[in-house]
Amino acid sequence: MAYTFLDLVSTPSVKAAQEANGSRDYFEVAGKDRSFDRFTPSEAAFIAARDSFYMATVSENGWPYVQHRGGPAGFLQVLDPTTFACADFRGNRQYISVGNLGANDRVSLILMDYPNRSRLKIFAHAEISTDPAILAKVAVPGYRAKVERALVFHLEAFDWNCPQHITPRFTMADIEEGIAALHQRIAVLETENAALKANTLSASAHSQGE
Ligand SMILES: Cc1cc2nc3c(=O)[nH]c(=O)nc-3n(C[C@H](O)[C@H](O)[C@H](O)COP(=O)(O)O)c2cc1C
Repeated sequence: MAYTFLDLVSTPSVKAAQEANGSRDYFEVAGKDRSFDRFTPSEAAFIAARDSFYMATVSENGWPYVQHRGGPAGFLQVLDPTTFACADFRGNRQYISVGNLGANDRVSLILMDYPNRSRLKIFAHAEISTDPAILAKVAVPGYRAKVERALVFHLEAFDWNCPQHITPRFTMADIEEGIAALHQRIAVLETENAALKANTLSASAHSQGE
């Protein structure tokens, strides 16, 4: 049986909460088949299309720390079915995530696809790399950001969530693509309108001259 996301999260407290809320039986049986420990082409394509993700690391004082990572679509790459990576760009230089990873390499990621209302949750061990070969792999040519290191993620388990409560949101690129046909239609109508106006004016000038 595949190693599942729920194997990792089903701590005694989680099991007790499920028991108290009447869902323990369901997750004991059905939950076992829900998620996997190797990316399929479907997850690989989803990951390759993302322009950002949220990453939680674990602080030494027990606080979870969630930060955003972003870049051009494709900046997060699946290297093989259990490994994925991205460039870590220079930011505010607090190095909270990087510091946390030095003490505990566990991360929990959420990848959102707002237009299609889907999200992928991932547990992984993160490796910080400055290996030139890895840095070359994750480089984003032409993107104005300094790559400080690569984050190489070793997959533990993933799970998909349902679309409920995800509001569709669109990037400027999505919107521009969506309204391109409208712009074209407006241009045709403007040309037609200008021609009609010109015809009306010339007809009216003609009738006044008679
Ligand atoms: C000049 C600059 C200032 C930034 N300031 C903030 C900030 O005040 N708060 C924040 O959450 N992110 C800020 N960011 C984005 C973060 O630096 C970026 O997400 C970074 O990787 C954070 O890493 P960490 O929080 O994991 O240490 C800034 C980025 C730049 C380039």
